[in-house]
Amino acid sequence: MDENFRTIDKFKDKYLSELFEFLMIPSISSDPIHKSDVEKCAKWLAKHIETIGFKDTRIIQTEGHPIIFANFDKIDTNKKTFLIYGHYDVQPVDPLDEWRSPPFEPEIRNGKIFARGSSDDKGQLFVHLKAIESLRQFGELPVNAKLIIEGEEEAAMNNLDGFIKSNSELLQCDAVLISDTEWFSDDLPSICYSLRGIGFMEVTVYGPNRDLHSGSFGGAVDNPVIVLSQIIARLKDNYGRITVPGFYDDVVELDEIERSVFSSLPLDEEKFFSDIGLKIGNGEIGFSVLERIWARPSLDVNGIYGGYTGEGSKTIIPSKATAKISIRLVPNQNAKDIINKTVNFIKNLVPPTVNIDIKFYEGANPILINRNSSAIQAAISAFKNSFSKEPVFIREGGSIPIVEQFVDYLKKPVVLLGLGLPNDNIHSPNENFDINNFIGGIKASAYFMKEFSRS
Ligand code: BES
Ligand code: MN
Ligand code: MN
Repeated sequence: MDENFRTIDKFKDKYLSELFEFLMIPSISSDPIHKSDVEKCAKWLAKHIETIGFKDTRIIQTEGHPIIFANFDKIDTNKKTFLIYGHYDVQPVDPLDEWRSPPFEPEIRNGKIFARGSSDDKGQLFVHLKAIESLRQFGELPVNAKLIIEGEEEAAMNNLDGFIKSNSELLQCDAVLISDTEWFSDDLPSICYSLRGIGFMEVTVYGPNRDLHSGSFGGAVDNPVIVLSQIIARLKDNYGRITVPGFYDDVVELDEIERSVFSSLPLDEEKFFSDIGLKIGNGEIGFSVLERIWARPSLDVNGIYGGYTGEGSKTIIPSKATAKISIRLVPNQNAKDIINKTVNFIKNLVPPTVNIDIKFYEGANPILINRNSSAIQAAISAFKNSFSKEPVFIREGGSIPIVEQFVDYLKKPVVLLGLGLPNDNIHSPNENFDINNFIGGIKASAYFMKEFSRS
């Protein structure tokens, strides 16, 4: 392995310049303006995968963005088979003026690669491609490698679901390997065993049939922005609990063991909040910060608009107002059930003076991964050997919707070998990926494949 690790160090500059090419393509999946960029990115990636030596590389068109599937070679039944998942799409870049260097012109500062997608997820995904490339320089791969890479993860689109359901044969494997999560802290390699689920809704309140003069009508009609705000305000109580009836019915309470493991993790609360410009946090009474993020559900307004938001004043009563709401779910909540309950509750809060329209999307169910598989054991040794540090087990508050399908349809162990760091600024301006984690990740991935092939 030492020789392999040295080779990885030797090729650092090559790996970085290739990653830069990948990062330069603005594959923003949620913005239709970038549809052709997403397509271009899929093509670039498929071509790159071929140059690594994947003999069977396919670009699968969907109603949304293309999926890439690849087989390294013919399946050798004497070897273990790995399925590597990742996403090549990225989040939008706004607010653009807060970026210190343009989001699609990667730049290295302080040992970190700054670019949209550097950590989430192009950089983390690229790690495994380079691991395979480096292993191959020493002869045959110790595993059968398959790739499934999507371009819709950040847009909450779900064309990959259908593909997985109808191609479970093609995707057969012994383990699924995913790097799309982060470490607990900068020097604490972490293996994630639980992701929260997610559900979304877009709530629009309709009032008068047009914007009205706020003097001629003010005081005599309901204002949709105010009604919407009142509805939102009633979704949580003063104890930080979500008020939707039955919302917590299926929430599994943490046991004492897990609670004490959470509290043994070195969370510097002051720094946690000061890093995001806050003095203190807030949440459900009776739970620690980690419990709130990892093991309790949450509800947030992602955006709200309505009425006049331009320069200066315009004295109107808007005719409508909209809020985008997301809900994070924990085991054993069911996304469909929770969305239903929430939609019904909101409908009941609507006064007869306005109309409401609710669009919703079920998102994904929460995930809990069994930590006893040999794949997880291999991941522990891989992190230990590559980063010279014993990894910790963590949960994550974020979601990777497709993981549920891997668990349900492939029924194989999933390993969340995350390589991001807490200050990678994913989804934010100045997203970055630490070069040590990039190179160390390549070593860990190569080690993991060797180790798991022996297990
Ligand atoms: N890589 C993230 C998930 C993640 C976030 C893991 C934070 C660990 C920490 C993923 O790309 C993501 O952002 N998922 C979305 C899914 C949504 C758009 C359906 C999320 O969690 O908001
Ligand atoms: Mn991601
Ligand atoms: Mn993301």
